[in-house]
Amino acid sequence: MLEQLNQIEQDALQAIRAAQDETTIEQWRVAYLGRSAPLMQIFDKLGALPKEERPAVGRRANEVKRALEGAFSERADSLRQASLVHSLTAERLDVTLPGRSFPIGRLHPLTQTLREMYHIFAEMGFQVFRSREVETDEYNFQLLNMPEDHPARDMWDTFYTLTPGVLLRTHTSPGQIHVMYAYAPEPIRVILPGVVYRYEQVSARKDTQFTQVEGIAVGRSITFGDLKGTLIDFARRMFGQDVRTRFRPSYFPFTEPSAEMDIECFLCGRKGCGVCKGSGWLEILGSGMVHPVVLQNGGYDPEQFSGFAFGMGVERIAMLCYKIEDIRYFWANDLRFLEQF
Ligand code: PHE
Repeated sequence: MLEQLNQIEQDALQAIRAAQDETTIEQWRVAYLGRSAPLMQIFDKLGALPKEERPAVGRRANEVKRALEGAFSERADSLRQASLVHSLTAERLDVTLPGRSFPIGRLHPLTQTLREMYHIFAEMGFQVFRSREVETDEYNFQLLNMPEDHPARDMWDTFYTLTPGVLLRTHTSPGQIHVMYAYAPEPIRVILPGVVYRYEQVSARKDTQFTQVEGIAVGRSITFGDLKGTLIDFARRMFGQDVRTRFRPSYFPFTEPSAEMDIECFLCGRKGCGVCKGSGWLEILGSGMVHPVVLQNGGYDPEQFSGFAFGMGVERIAMLCYKIEDIRYFWANDLRFLEQF
């Protein structure tokens, strides 16, 4: 029986050296240390041995068992180690490689321009007030001092809806009335950004849909000087301290007196180009002192209150900031254009 144990030990230790992976080593464990392994059967038979042989065989059987267990765990360890090293080299991950970037969208140039304008006006104490795009004739015209058939309505070529009296706002000025209703009789200092619509001949300077920022300030002693100061200050903050501006007298039914402000055309350096129609200047806003009738329509006593208002073309401002020579780019959704901002 001692012979047999030696043989088992020899066979087992030889076999385990051939085991190259976790499956074969597990098979080896079952074959040599499992319940029906020859070694285990020897343990079972110990009791049947003559008394004198028992201690020697028992001792040797235990020795062999420990030797096999030791060999097993050593081999299992080294196989595990080897497979770890293997996967570390085979599935190597270079964490120093730059990551793959995903194409992400960006803010539309108009949104960027608008945000800059909000920022500048916020610093001057103006809050943002939202007003609707689908308007009534009453707000878009009548309350702004343009009764039906008023000739000044021709200044705005209007998109009408099938519902009588309902139209797409042609300017952000109806928002003035909404703000006055909301604030009266408190002082006002707000801007109203938004899209407006006009039934116009499309050109490099004009589109049927564009963006305006309306502004209105109402208080007890607001003057035309406040209007000029606010707009010139805005232009300096928007375009730089050295920007040249110019005011021209104008007419709007809802302001009196009225003025338009031009900015020197950066696209051509004032030499004259298609965008400034050869004049070297680009009109960016209409403005004026809120007409007494409009103040009254909004719920303010024109004897006690005065105010100024302005309406800026945001596309025009963005065109100057970024030297864009055609207004139609803004709504064309051409990625080659949009990706430049
Ligand atoms: N609403 C005018 C326009 O769209 C601009 C404007 C606004 C003029 C406010 C005066 C006061 O042309």
